[in-house]
Amino acid sequence: MDVILIGFMGAGKTTVGHLLAEKVGQPLLDTDQLITERTNQTPGEIFADIGEAGFRDLEHTILGEAITESGVIATGGGIIELSKNQQLLSEVTVPVIYLSGSFGQTMERLVKDNSRPIVRNKSLLELAELWEARLPKYAAIATQTVYTDNKSANQVAEEIINYVKGIADGTVKDW
Ligand code: S3P
Repeated sequence: MDVILIGFMGAGKTTVGHLLAEKVGQPLLDTDQLITERTNQTPGEIFADIGEAGFRDLEHTILGEAITESGVIATGGGIIELSKNQQLLSEVTVPVIYLSGSFGQTMERLVKDNSRPIVRNKSLLELAELWEARLPKYAAIATQTVYTDNKSANQVAEEIINYVKGIADGTVKDW
């Protein structure tokens, strides 16, 4: 099952992606992880070394490669920052699922993890501004929005599977 997960940091893309990949027996292509495998550096280290722009270049290359492969693709929350990535994602022929949660529940997950450079360097107000700026971009690219509030990763994964199966058997109208 080929599917691409997008959404803000802390939306659960990686967790849900792992579950989905396991359930459907496909590889998980996690762009952050692929970047780390390629560079031997975490996103935090890359941001510190070559800045966000350098990270975004790498992310673009990795996304371009991942979409040519079969599997579950979990993207980084900033994938929509480059218009060339927006372009790539709007041209793919596989479902692009936007994992959407409330600001409150997303922030709750984010503050528990100090590894994200974007979160480390921003105040809550700045994160709220980033949230406001990014949300319409995810929504514009997604073929389907899945709401995640008060749901387990397993429930979200099952919803995605049902949606993708629905497209395959014609019970859900494709976009
Ligand atoms: C980023 C999100 C991160 C990672 C990097 C930048 C962002 O991925 O790609 O730290 O700009 O939102 P997650 O969405 O998996 O946290």
